[in-house]
Amino acid sequence: MLNTSFLDALAGKPTSYTPLWLMRQAGRYLPEYLKTRQLAGSFMDLAQNPSLATQVTLQPLDRYDLDAAILFSDILTIPDAMGLGLHFIAGEGPKFNYPLQSEHSIKNLRTADMSKLQYVFDAVSSIIKALRNNLTVQSQRLPLIGFSGSPFTLACYMIEGSGSSNNFEYTRSIMYSRSDLFEHILEINTLSVIEYLSLQIQAGVNAVMIFDTWGGLLSQANYIKYSLKYIQKIIKTLKEKYPHIPCIVFTKGGGVWLEQISAIQPDAIGVDWTIDIGKARKIVPNSISLQGNLDPIVLRGSQENIIMQTKDMLDSYYSVNRNLSRYIANLGHGISQHTNPENVAIFVDTLKDYSKTLIKLR
Ligand code: CP3
Repeated sequence: MLNTSFLDALAGKPTSYTPLWLMRQAGRYLPEYLKTRQLAGSFMDLAQNPSLATQVTLQPLDRYDLDAAILFSDILTIPDAMGLGLHFIAGEGPKFNYPLQSEHSIKNLRTADMSKLQYVFDAVSSIIKALRNNLTVQSQRLPLIGFSGSPFTLACYMIEGSGSSNNFEYTRSIMYSRSDLFEHILEINTLSVIEYLSLQIQAGVNAVMIFDTWGGLLSQANYIKYSLKYIQKIIKTLKEKYPHIPCIVFTKGGGVWLEQISAIQPDAIGVDWTIDIGKARKIVPNSISLQGNLDPIVLRGSQENIIMQTKDMLDSYYSVNRNLSRYIANLGHGISQHTNPENVAIFVDTLKDYSKTLIKLR
């Protein structure tokens, strides 16, 4: 039997507690992750090895009472499979050997070669098998989330060539000087994301999430024109092909555009911590679930403050939505590598215990 709380919250069914998972739940804050990564050699060696990718996917689930697993991979696998040559330099983040910095390279860009991404689909099958069959793992009954970057966020890295730049200024200057070239990249990314997520679904993921980490850098009009429009096409196509698979859209900084994001009808909207979750609930129609949104850095503060802010977040959401449905708790962005794993346990336990009491009080 599957732990259905996460999928129930996406489907609008009431749950007996608030389901929870954490963005980047498998990662460097866990000593066991660092061990496995060292064994693999590098981050990419780890991501490309389905058996080790399975191992790290399960690590946070063995430690904490979480309600979903997320595929261990990265959003930059797509541009890598387009031939841009991805590598990670320790302490500096991602780098591409061949960023899109000439008209020639942009015009020659082709959709990602899915055969080069077979390791991702193999990892999905392997994780599903482990979640369903491995009786020693507490997480055996959890659903698996697949994911992709948004076409815009992928384009940011593909043009800039690295992640550590100043708000992707070069990328945005190309967008405003050569929107024809920029839109060409977005079209190709959109086709690639649709194919990539379709193959993840065929390999067994139970839900998909689109990470639009940098959409919040744009003005409202440009967000709609250069990011949301393409996310809409992805969701529409996936909904036609796989109506039973829920889609979650997360735009960091997107709290100011909740009406617009709701209009493309995702199953859930992920929000960062800059908007009050109760206020978000008032804006987003009840047919759409919400996911978020504790500031990940709260987990680096005092334990009393973690408990207080976790309760405040739940009080805020449930003061607006008394049905106790359509809410998935999460952080407002990925967990920091400097987080003490004990503080994560405080967050998880408070969230579970307090949401149960709120539901009993109903
Ligand atoms: O949530 C999970 O546990 C699944 C794994 C996951 C990773 N990356 C693993 C990873 C997911 C969902 C991502 C998505 C991702 N990758 C995003 C979107 C979400 C977000 O955080 O905004 C983005 C923008 C990236 C690109 C990326 N990958 C960057 C900028 C970096 C380096 C800097 C950093 O923050 O770590 C990565 C590397 C990466 N991806 C790591 C992990 C665990 C750390 C690499 C390592 O172990 O050395």
